[in-house]
Amino acid sequence: MDFAQLIQARYSVRAYRPDPVEDEKVQQVLEAARWAPTAANRQPFQLIVLPTAGREPELRRIYQRSWFVDAPLVICMCAVVDEAWARMDGKPYADVDAAIAMDHLILAATDLGLGSCWIAAFDPAAAREVLGLPEGVEPIAFTPLGYPADQARPKQRKPLAELVRYGRW
Ligand SMILES: Cc1cc2nc3c(=O)[nH]c(=O)nc-3n(C[C@H](O)[C@H](O)[C@H](O)COP(=O)(O)O)c2cc1C
Repeated sequence: MDFAQLIQARYSVRAYRPDPVEDEKVQQVLEAARWAPTAANRQPFQLIVLPTAGREPELRRIYQRSWFVDAPLVICMCAVVDEAWARMDGKPYADVDAAIAMDHLILAATDLGLGSCWIAAFDPAAAREVLGLPEGVEPIAFTPLGYPADQARPKQRKPLAELVRYGRW
């Protein structure tokens, strides 16, 4: 797949086969996150890899859709807020950095034939408790990681004319 094909092939996978993901592929998607750019190169994120087997009940506390725990792995992207660069007006960029790294991971997963789904509608209190997150570490997004058991649906996106302005607002 070339890059244009890859970004169109990625879709939110909401059904997974239970087949294990090869360790080498797990390492490749984690490496993709590692190579992401971050503001001032602070790399203020931590990834938590969670095998789902035997942990289904506690993982369902974090996100209740049944397919969340059908994949063999769930990955949590956390921002380490104090390590992040902040803009001159104080706006911290930890979430931006974490999102870029997560997108690298997700696109790498697509490239390897793996399914993923950005999940932000999780219960943050349950995530903190189940994952034992210390203060200052924010769960930003989860994704299952496994082989898809569904098919891509046609994508709906706004036309560029609705998304791009030239020169000024
Ligand atoms: C930041 C973010 C958060 C999302 N959170 C959820 C979620 O909690 N649950 C879910 O099923 N999908 C979630 N999605 C997936 C979107 O619904 C999906 O990307 C969008 O509808 C476009 O579909 P596609 O990913 O198949 O192209 C999220 C996507 C993003 C980028």
